[in-house]
Amino acid sequence: MKSHLSRTYNNILVSEKENPEGLKTGVIQINRPKVMNALNIELMGEMADALYAFDKDSEIGCSVVYGNEKAFAAGADIKEMAEMNAVEIYYREMFASWDRIRLMKKPVIAAVSGFALGGGCELAMLCDMIVAGENAKFGQPEVNLGVIPGAGGTQRLTRAVGKARAMEIILTGRMVSAKEMFDAGLLTKVVADDKYLDESLELAKIICSKPTLAVQTAKESILKSFDTTIETGIEFERKNFYLLFASEDKTEGMKAFVEKRKADWKGK
Ligand code: CAA
Repeated sequence: MKSHLSRTYNNILVSEKENPEGLKTGVIQINRPKVMNALNIELMGEMADALYAFDKDSEIGCSVVYGNEKAFAAGADIKEMAEMNAVEIYYREMFASWDRIRLMKKPVIAAVSGFALGGGCELAMLCDMIVAGENAKFGQPEVNLGVIPGAGGTQRLTRAVGKARAMEIILTGRMVSAKEMFDAGLLTKVVADDKYLDESLELAKIICSKPTLAVQTAKESILKSFDTTIETGIEFERKNFYLLFASEDKTEGMKAFVEKRKADWKGK
């Protein structure tokens, strides 16, 4: 068995899902149901390790992260943070694992049901797409604890929904419905509550049937648009486009189109 599947995690459950016509989906369930899946430092380390193992596994094309019906995650673990002072939080590098997750090459889908609050909302935003059940509740309530979002909330929410809404959501700490977040541009899809996981796995299945190199360079190029000028971003996209012309999958994909048959992807 693969090492990442045989390894014991304390806070997450890791599995793989076969897809009939493509690569497999890596699946991670956040597993701290007694505390609404609060994200402690150990859990985020495990999440980064599991995603990294999926990233390095040529049989995996995409990952899905989910929680349970009540909570995707109700934030960073407040009880853990309550014990820490500024010096401790600095040395423990609370967000080091979050930075590792940001660098994953394969797409990660957040399948959200229930609460996605504080760090839970930030974890969903750190993923590449968010599929939510219609009664999911999003929010950045850190202000109610005397702090602010610390895992990218002020940046990613603002980029997704704009300054006016991000200000109001973060400064009031209110909960926001899936519909409102979808209308504001944060979510990929809102589905019936009992379908949030199935629909996420379905989306992952489609991505898993696509050529890996094209998927990864597309993700990389889209993310580049967040931290560069349009000229630099277009240059970056163009270099990736040219690079793909050196891949077997480009030759196969275009040949298959001309020959009116299904492409046989190699991931190289
Ligand atoms: N950290 C630690 N424990 C948490 C938690 C969290 N973020 N959220 C919930 N829990 C625990 C509760 O303490 C409770 O434990 P006990 O049974 O031992 O008392 C258990 O989960 C169940 O929670 P509730 O009884 O509160 O459940 P509820 O249904 O009444 O309310 C809730 C649900 C609205 C999500 C509520 O739990 C809540 O408001 N949670 C905190 C949300 C929050 O403030 N998140 C932001 C955290 S700060 C952050 O994330 C910083 C950052 O940017 C990285």
